[in-house]
Parts: sequence; C-alpha cells; structure tokens
Amino acid sequence: MKVAVFGAGTMGSGICQVFAQNGHTVLMYASSVASAQKHRDKLGASFDKRIAKGKMTEEQKAAILGNILCEEKEAAADADLVIECVKEEMAAKRELLGELDELCKPETIFATNTSSLSVTEMGTGLKHPVIGMHFFNPVPAMKLVEVIRGANTTDETFKTIYDLSLAIGKEPVEVVESPGFIVNRILVPMINEGAGLYETGVASAEDIDKAMKLGANLPMGPLELGDFIGLDVCLAIMNTLYDETGDPKYRPATILKKMVRGGMLGRKTGKGFYDYSN
Ligand code: CAA
Repeated sequence: MKVAVFGAGTMGSGICQVFAQNGHTVLMYASSVASAQKHRDKLGASFDKRIAKGKMTEEQKAAILGNILCEEKEAAADADLVIECVKEEMAAKRELLGELDELCKPETIFATNTSSLSVTEMGTGLKHPVIGMHFFNPVPAMKLVEVIRGANTTDETFKTIYDLSLAIGKEPVEVVESPGFIVNRILVPMINEGAGLYETGVASAEDIDKAMKLGANLPMGPLELGDFIGLDVCLAIMNTLYDETGDPKYRPATILKKMVRGGMLGRKTGKGFYDYSN
C-alpha cells in the first residue's frame, strides 16, 4: 500500500515509521522536500540509538528508511491512503485536504490524525470523505488506534482502516465521532484537573504526579503527561470539548491558558510544569 503522510512532526514521523517498518511505501511530506528529509534523518538518528542498544539492526534501519520517500505533494496522487497530521486547526487541515481532493485518485482514503476536531467537518464538501485514524504518542510504542466514523464514513472504508491498523501491529477501537473521541475525552480533562489542583496550591506538581502514578498506576502523572503531549495541544482539546458540548465541566484551567500564552508548552519549549532546559 502507498501511504502519504502530511506533516512530519512527532506524530507524523512516528506514523511514517510504523507504516514503513510494516513494509508499506510512505510519502513523508513536510513544508518542503528538504524539511521532510531532515525529519527522515532525525528518524534515522533515533534508529541509531536503538541499534546501539541492540534493539535494531543496520539492515532494518536501511529497510525502513528505504520505504520512506521524501517527494513533492504531487506524489500523493496515486496514494491508497492519505493521513493528515498538520497543525491542529480546522482551516489548515481543510485547506490541505481540499488541495489533495483534486490531486488524489477517487479511491484514495482520506484519514486524519486529529486529536479532537470533527472528522465530518474536515471532509465537508470534498469528494473524499474523511475518517479518523488517531494514533498516540510515542506512535511506535503505543498500541492503540482510534478509528473514528464520521457522518459519511462507509462500512467499507471503516473496515479497511480497522484491518490496516491490525496489520501494522496496532489495536484498533471503533468510535462514533464525538468530541475528544474516547481517550482524549477522558485523559485531557484529567490533565486539566491536575493543572487546576496545582493552580489552587493543593499539592506540588511532583506530588500530584507521584500520587497519580502510585495511586492510579499511570506510567506518567497528569502534569508530566501534559508537558509530554504539549500544553497547547491539551488546551486546544479542552477548548474543543468545551465549545462542542457547552458543558462547563470542560472549562480549561486558567493556568493552562496562561502557560500557553507565555510559551510554556512543555517539553517542546523546554518549560511547562517542569523545566527541561538542561
Ligand atoms: N519512539 C519509539 N519507541 C519509543 C519511543 C519513541 N519516541 N519512546 C519509547 N519507545 C519505546 C521504547 O523503545 C521501548 O520499547 P522497546 O523495549 O521495544 O525498545 C518502550 O517504548 C518503552 O520505552 P522506555 O523503556 O524507553 O521508557 P518507559 O518505559 O519509561 O516508557 C513511555 C515511555 C512509553 C512514553 C511511557 O512513559 C508511557 O506510556 N507514557 C504515557 C504515554 C501516553 O499516555 N501517551 C498518550 C498521550 S495522548 C496522545 O498521544 C493523544 C493525543 O491526541 C494528545
């Protein structure tokens, strides 16, 4: 299968890796071919670390990178599947998908890795309806794929994406479109609640995380996880949950808004609830 992945950030790169290591041909697309090549090189550097630990061979690295093509957008014309992973803004996603709608063959399946936006709205007016194929960070390590049925998703498309998720070693779940789907509807309000506890001085960030790791057996506490996902992403998800449902229980914590406005987005900017500058 030929898969065209648009957006080569953490999620896009991880998705490219998973398809490529399962023998699919992947078009990795970023803002330019040179930028995509940089992201492919970054993947190669992460494989070198695995090779040093004896978890991967040079041959496996060469095979995976050999399956990842960095070419112009037009190379998506004959793709069987497009997965968009560009920034979490409806307008940006619709603009890209609108362009691809003209470019791609009629059978191409359009999927989105959105973390909470409406997959139906993303495909409104397009010849290619959009289905949700939601991966989790870090993509190579996390087993789950949420397969989200939009209003125009056919049973045939759903089955193709569900079966494909299994074929690339993931565990799919079927979800009818709804704000935040399953995981983010539960997970991100938990992070937001942790932020609220921190804001009101109930406990330190360290103790909030320690409590949830040891008391609920989570691999990461809510604040550590918020920093890992990106506080801007968490805020965007809370805003979607709040706007779409109108339910005050999804109101974003004030501190989350303040931190995002101040550029404290978590690991990616070196500062969030914790300091990553060293
Ligand atoms: N790329 C590839 N593999 C990775 C990886 C990465 N970036 N990070 C970890 N792994 C792999 C490791 O290689 C290792 O696998 P192997 O044994 O086969 O090598 C395995 O994952 C475990 O990793 P580590 O031993 O290095 O580290 P760990 O045991 O501390 O686990 C973690 C790290 C998997 C990130 C763990 O802390 C965890 O599960 N955290 C929670 C992550 C989570 O909740 N993610 C979901 C976020 S929500 C989301 O993504 C959706 C959204 O829309 C916002």
